[in-house]
Amino acid sequence: MGTKRAAILYIGRADRGEAWAKIMRTEAPDLDFRIFPEIGAAEEIAYLAAWTIPSGLFGQIPNLRAIFSVGAGVDQLDLASLPPGLPLVRMIEPALVCDIAGYVAMAALMLQRRMPEYLTLGRSGTWRALIAPPVSETPVGLLGLGMLGQAAAASLTALGFPMLGWSRSPRKIAGIDCHAGPDGLAALLGQSRILICLLPLTGETRGILNAALFAQLPRGAGLVNLGRGGHLIEADLLAALESGQISAAVLDVFETEPLPAGHPFWNHPRIVITPHIGAVTGTETGIAALLANIRRFERGERLEGEVDRGRGY
Ligand code: GLV
Repeated sequence: MGTKRAAILYIGRADRGEAWAKIMRTEAPDLDFRIFPEIGAAEEIAYLAAWTIPSGLFGQIPNLRAIFSVGAGVDQLDLASLPPGLPLVRMIEPALVCDIAGYVAMAALMLQRRMPEYLTLGRSGTWRALIAPPVSETPVGLLGLGMLGQAAAASLTALGFPMLGWSRSPRKIAGIDCHAGPDGLAALLGQSRILICLLPLTGETRGILNAALFAQLPRGAGLVNLGRGGHLIEADLLAALESGQISAAVLDVFETEPLPAGHPFWNHPRIVITPHIGAVTGTETGIAALLANIRRFERGERLEGEVDRGRGY
């Protein structure tokens, strides 16, 4: 790099790019923040902050040092197409954590209080009280116990839900009945009146929310998918709703986004849909997290959220 300024190339939502550029000008004048496709002098680009990355870009930026996802996940990137050896980092920042804690509270309470049914009854002007078990008798199973999963669990524990959690490798977290591995999953499913997916999408977790899994839940369980659309076999959910094995679902992510017009999830009386807004990277907090990581990188320190490419998250 010599005496030249290192550049960050941003690829993503234009409004966020402009907001971040403004903050970077005052907070990090030594770093030149560029917004794709205006890449400028390509040899100066040291960092990518991106949601997706156009194929062919890597051949043009020979001095790239690290790749940062602007979101909590990296599954939107084709990991095999990224230059090997460069750190790949997912976004960890407080606004995402806060959003997740709020979303799971909203979704779990909606399911426990039978809100999808009230929405339907309300549309026909029907005043009818439905019996709802108390939160203390509504155990929630959480798939995924990373930083977001732990924030979700804390939020639900505060509301009084008994919490069970499942992760790939064993964990011990106060207040959560933790399970791991295939046997642990069965134990969690058998007790979860509400199941929440917050897993990263990997080869191992794709399609995990399927008929065989639903069959292990208590009859009439509720489902929340806040992971990725690829976790859910959509036809299996429709069948489980039809049979009553699943009573209702709150879904924020879908195999195809935006959810296509005419998709059977639209207008389904037992499905509540939000358009992938469960957790959105904050403007100030997101750029602060990115900058803090770049500074760590410059000092040769460990990056927060560095992805293990073999593991996929
Ligand atoms: C949202 O889904 C994200 O990955 O930040």
